[in-house]
Amino acid sequence: MTTSNVEDALPKHIAIIMDGNGRWAKQRGVTRAEGHEAGAESVRETVEGCREMGIEVLTLYAFSTENWRRSRIEVSALFRLLSKYVKKELENIHKEDIRVSIMGRMEGLPKKVVKDLEYSMERTANNRSMILNVAINYGGRGEISDAARAIASEVQRGELELDAIDEACLARHLYRPALPDPDLLVRTSGEMRISNFMLWQLSYTEIVMMKTLWPDFRKPHLHEAIAEYQQRQRRFGGR
Ligand code: IPE
Ligand code: IPE
Ligand code: MG
Repeated sequence: MTTSNVEDALPKHIAIIMDGNGRWAKQRGVTRAEGHEAGAESVRETVEGCREMGIEVLTLYAFSTENWRRSRIEVSALFRLLSKYVKKELENIHKEDIRVSIMGRMEGLPKKVVKDLEYSMERTANNRSMILNVAINYGGRGEISDAARAIASEVQRGELELDAIDEACLARHLYRPALPDPDLLVRTSGEMRISNFMLWQLSYTEIVMMKTLWPDFRKPHLHEAIAEYQQRQRRFGGR
């Protein structure tokens, strides 16, 4: 048994840390909000590119639990942009048979955003060709501690035996237990860190860091990241 990729195997699940909007804006002397706005076009292309290639799951890191540390102006611009994106792109996403999934804490988000996100999940609930999983108000440590609390409460209520707590049990209590772990993680803008993203799920994910700033990211960059993934030998600790 070999654990390396079959030739040209596509990643089933691609996760992206979309970074560099602020630096892109700074280079052009425009506001950070305009950088985020430009990033929305990269999201559109990436979703389309993944759908064309038959990628099963695309997870996009849109807002971390640490991003609340930014100015109120920037945070509200990000949420306004999110609602605008849903309004503009949802019907197209639906037409492409893509199901929207949201991963993160809904508490703390503006009501309008929660409503838009819930509507986009309902609207696309029966779609089957691809899952677009968006991480919003998401943190990997928060996700693991939420899972720990849910497990503890099941034990306390007598619904779960202490001995039944294992890796599979913890994985079942994460926000999106039905999704496979990412095969490929892409981070744009050249930063070499995870920034509290999917800490549990990334254990054996192949990581591709790219210098490109997110607003400049287009289909050829996606294809480049996948080509690099296809050169990797995945071992999962074996042999
Ligand atoms: C990524 O771009 C978008 C979010 C984190 C929401 P940044 O805003 O982090 O851009 P840089 O890192 O400042 O360039
Ligand atoms: C990670 O980017 C979060 C998102 C892309 C949503 P950040 O720009 O917030 O991460 P740091 O602060 O550089 O680690
Ligand atoms: Mg950043």
